[in-house]
Amino acid sequence: RSDITTMANDTAMNTMQHFLQIEDFSRDTLLQLIDKANTIIHTDQKQQQQRGILAGKTLVNLFLEPSTRTRVSFELAARRLGGEVINLDNQQSSMRKNEDLLDTILSLQAMDCQLFALRHPKNSTVTTVSKQVPKGIAIINAGDGTRAHPSQALLDMLTIQQHKQDFSNLTVAIIGDIKHSRVANSQITALRRLGVKEIRLIGPETLLLTDLNDPLITTETSLVQGLQDADVVIVLRIQQERFQTEALPDLKEYYQHYGLTQSKLAHAKPDAIVMHPGPVNRGIEIDTEICDGPQSVIRQQISNGVAMRMAILSTLVKNLLQ
Ligand code: NCD
Repeated sequence: RSDITTMANDTAMNTMQHFLQIEDFSRDTLLQLIDKANTIIHTDQKQQQQRGILAGKTLVNLFLEPSTRTRVSFELAARRLGGEVINLDNQQSSMRKNEDLLDTILSLQAMDCQLFALRHPKNSTVTTVSKQVPKGIAIINAGDGTRAHPSQALLDMLTIQQHKQDFSNLTVAIIGDIKHSRVANSQITALRRLGVKEIRLIGPETLLLTDLNDPLITTETSLVQGLQDADVVIVLRIQQERFQTEALPDLKEYYQHYGLTQSKLAHAKPDAIVMHPGPVNRGIEIDTEICDGPQSVIRQQISNGVAMRMAILSTLVKNLLQ
């Protein structure tokens, strides 16, 4: 699979200016970022040399969509690297237009802010803005529209690697609202690039992607079928806020067909891990016993999030152009 594992335009560790989408990184770069996060996890907090890496630098969390977990995760990551953090997460009205968003970033740069974690409801705005900012600024995609959420996908790959080591034998099942999920989009790209054996997308037809033309990916409307012998089971939230013209599924009916219960999970491999990017709706897409059960790695995903974001921030800060 040389076309997807090696790329001509790879954004390597030592040239990475922005962190925008998984598509920009080769398999090697993805593995290096994962390794870096693992090293951070295994370094004693007190002895951490990383502590000074962001000293004198400021991260701005610019979130034009609600978030708790991701925002806090970026904040803790920057603080643990010795950086300062500004949170601007309630600015929807004043930054609707790209120009206003760009203006805000430039004003913050004038106050010596360099790193910007951007979350935006509209697809690709984060990328557009990254092309307009001057040198000395690093843009990090903290979730754009339904398109990409690369730091989440990477922390998920880190979590998978901690349990499964080798990606090449894995069957990964992703259940639910694939269509509106930027997390699923970025995960699929990462999983392909890391060379998993099979990706199964499971959900009602209305929530699946239709234009996938990839022998690695199968779509499945039956949960039990899709779960057969899966090694990794990823559950997604129904992104109610992104349904525009389509009808929302009836949640009771959804639970009956696609809610992950212990008896359905029994169809996956006995050592399958269960993941969820959060926020979790217990009793809708997943049973509470599974969330807190032995196969769940949901809490580990949350802790890995901080390390992964430390790895991303420390990589970008080294490449900040003066
Ligand atoms: C995800 C997101 O915002 O896309 N959540 C997150 O980053 N913790 C998934 C979701 O909202 O369902």
